[in-house]
Amino acid sequence: MITYEEPGSWLLTTPSSAYVVRLGPDGAPRCAHWGPRLTPGQARALPAGREELPGEGGERFGVAGLQVRYGDAVRGVEWRHLGHDTDTDTDTGTAGGGDGDGEGAAAHLVIRMADRHYPLEIDLHYRVRSGSDAIDRWTTLRNTGDEPITIPRCDSAAWTVPQREDYRLTHVTGGWGAEFQVRRTALATAETVLTSRRGHSGHHANPWVMLDAGDATEDHGEVWSAALAWSGSWRITVERDHDGRAGWSGGFGHEGVTWRLGPGEALETPAFTGVYSAQGFGGISHRWHDHVRRHVLPAPRRVRPVVFNSWEATQFDISQAQQMELAELAAGIGVELFVMDDGWFGGRTGETAGLGDWWPNPERFPDGLTPLVEHVKRLGMQFGLWVEPESVNPDSELYRTRPEWVLRQPNRHSTEVRNQLLLDFSRDDVADWAYDRLDELVTGDDVAFLKWDMNRPVTEAGDEVWVPYIRNVYAVIDRLRAAHPHLMIEGCASGGGRADLGMIARTDQIWTSDNTDAAQRIAIQHGYGQMYPACTMGAWVTDSPNAITGGRTPLAFRFHVAMAGALGIGGDLRRWSPEDLEEARHLVARYKEIRPVVHGGRLDRLADWAVQYTLDADVVVLSWRPTTLVRATAPLRLKGLDPDGRYRDEDTGEIRHGALLMSHGLPRPWPFEGVSELKRFTRVG
Ligand code: DGJ
Repeated sequence: MITYEEPGSWLLTTPSSAYVVRLGPDGAPRCAHWGPRLTPGQARALPAGREELPGEGGERFGVAGLQVRYGDAVRGVEWRHLGHDTDTDTDTGTAGGGDGDGEGAAAHLVIRMADRHYPLEIDLHYRVRSGSDAIDRWTTLRNTGDEPITIPRCDSAAWTVPQREDYRLTHVTGGWGAEFQVRRTALATAETVLTSRRGHSGHHANPWVMLDAGDATEDHGEVWSAALAWSGSWRITVERDHDGRAGWSGGFGHEGVTWRLGPGEALETPAFTGVYSAQGFGGISHRWHDHVRRHVLPAPRRVRPVVFNSWEATQFDISQAQQMELAELAAGIGVELFVMDDGWFGGRTGETAGLGDWWPNPERFPDGLTPLVEHVKRLGMQFGLWVEPESVNPDSELYRTRPEWVLRQPNRHSTEVRNQLLLDFSRDDVADWAYDRLDELVTGDDVAFLKWDMNRPVTEAGDEVWVPYIRNVYAVIDRLRAAHPHLMIEGCASGGGRADLGMIARTDQIWTSDNTDAAQRIAIQHGYGQMYPACTMGAWVTDSPNAITGGRTPLAFRFHVAMAGALGIGGDLRRWSPEDLEEARHLVARYKEIRPVVHGGRLDRLADWAVQYTLDADVVVLSWRPTTLVRATAPLRLKGLDPDGRYRDEDTGEIRHGALLMSHGLPRPWPFEGVSELKRFTRVG
C-alpha cells in the first residue's frame, strides 16, 4: 500500500515493513524510515534522512549513485519536485518476460523530479505488492532538452538503514565451482564495493547485499537486504560513514562507462529490490523466496521436471546410440526430461570448434535430432538441448561467414576464453539471428527445455555495448518464451555465473554450479538459498568419485543433497550398477513425493548441514554429515511447527508432538561421514 501523507512525504506499507520517503529542505528525496510498520502519524513525525539517489555537488562527499554532466560541463543535480503518480496494476513481474503467472495487485509510485535548471527529469519508482515485503525501486532519467547529457553513472536506488552502534555485512563470494560462499563480516567505516566487471553477474560475487547491526541470528533480529535484477556488470557500494550511518547504492553499468543521453531519450535502470525482516536471516530468506516465487519467476507454478543432463556422463564424446542408451536408463529411474548438453551441433567435438553452428552434427546425427527426440518421447520424457547463443568459436561456419558480428575493438587484441569469442549481442541483427536459430530449433525438434549457457566474460566491448547486450539477451529469451509458452529455460554461465533476479525473471531454473560434489555442494546451496528459492536451484546427482573433485559420497547422500533443490541426474548411468539404478529409482520416486514441499514450502535452515521445508501440513527434513568434522551430536530442532500439533513420521508411523520436535528435536545417531537422512512428517492433529 502506498499513502501520500502530506506534501512531499510518502509511506509505503508491506505486510511487515514500512518505508517512508520525504523531500528534504533542499528538495532532494530522502529516506525517513525503512524498518517495521508505522502508522501514518508515526511516519509524519520522522525527519528526512539520507538521499534516495545521492549525486554530486553541494556538500555531498559520499557515494554518488547519480552522476550527470551537462553540455557546459556543469555536473550534478539540484532537485526540483514536479509531482507524483500512483497507480495500482496487476503484477507482471519485476523485469518483464512473465507469462502472466504472477500474483497480486501491485501499487506503483513515481516521484517525479527534475533539475532546477537543466533539462533533466528524474523519476524515482517504488513498487509494493499485496502480500509481499519486497519493495522494488528503480530510476528513469529523461533528457527533455536539445543537447546530449552525459551520464557517468545512474544507480537504480540507494538504500539507507537506520543508525545503529555497529553494522555487519553479509554477501557471497566464490569462483567457478565454488559459487555462493556466504561471508559475514564487520562493516568497515569506508566504502565497500561489491561488483562484477565481467559482463555477467559473476561467480565471484552475486548482486545482493544484507546489513544487520551485528546482532541478528538465523531466527531473530533486524536484517536489511537488497538484490539487483541485472545480469551484466553491476556495482553495489556499501557505505559506513564517520558519523556512523550506513546504507548502499547500487545499479547496473560497467565501471568507467558513460551513457550519452540524447535529446528526448530516456534511460531506465533495472529494479533494485529491498526486503526488511525482523526475523533474522531466516526471515529474510523466507521473504525473498516468497517474492521470487510469486512475483519474479515467469512460470512459478510449473512443476520442475526431474532432468537428466548428459554433460558429466559424456562431455563432448556424443553419439546418437549412446544418448539413446542414456535416455533408456534415465527413463528407467523416473527421469522426466532428457537434456543433451554440449557437443551435439556443428563441428563441436571439443572446446575448439563449432560454437555458433546450431544444427545437428551431421556425422553424429545423420538423420538430424528427430530419431533421438522421438526415442526420448517414446520413453515418456520430454527433450531438452544445451545452447550457448552468445558465443562463437573462431573455427566455425558462423565466424567464417559473419566475422563482423564478433565483439571486438579496433587496434585491440581479441581475448579468447575457452577458445571462444562473444557475439556482439548489443546488435539487433545478431539478437534476431539468435532468436531465429533458437526458434527454429525449438519448433523443428519439439524441444521442451533449453539450457542457455554463457562460458566466458565480456571483453573488448565499447561503452555502448554493456547494457544493450544484456537487454538483448533478455529480449531473445522473452521472445522465445512468448512464442513457446511451454518452453522451459535453464540459466547457466559455467555454473552459477549468471544467477540473479534478471535471469530468474525469465528462466525456470539456474544451473547452480559445475561443482557437483555433494559434500561441497552443501555450502554452495546454502549460499544460493539465502536469496533464491529451491525450485530454481538446479542440482544433479553425479558419479562417485566426483569428476571434478574426486570426492566420494554414497548414492543416497548425493540424492539427499540434490533433493534440496530441483533434482537432476548427471551421472554416467551406463556405469551405475543394477543396485545403484534400483536405489536411484526409489530415491527419484521419493523426491517426487516431497517436490511440492521443497519447491513450494518455506525453507528453514536448521544448521549448516540440515534444511527443513514446510508446506501446510507437510514437513520435510534433509540432513547431511559430509565429514566427521561436522559434529552432528546436538539434536536437530525443527522450526515453525505448531507446538500443539501432532506430526506423523511418514516412515515409521510414529506420532510426534510439534512442541517436542522444536524443543528436543530429532536425535543424531550418525557415527560416520557421508551419512544423510530424509525425514517426512505430516501434521495429523
Ligand atoms: C558449462 C556448464 O556449466 C556445464 O554444465 C556444461 O554445460 C558445459 N558448460 C558445456 O560446455
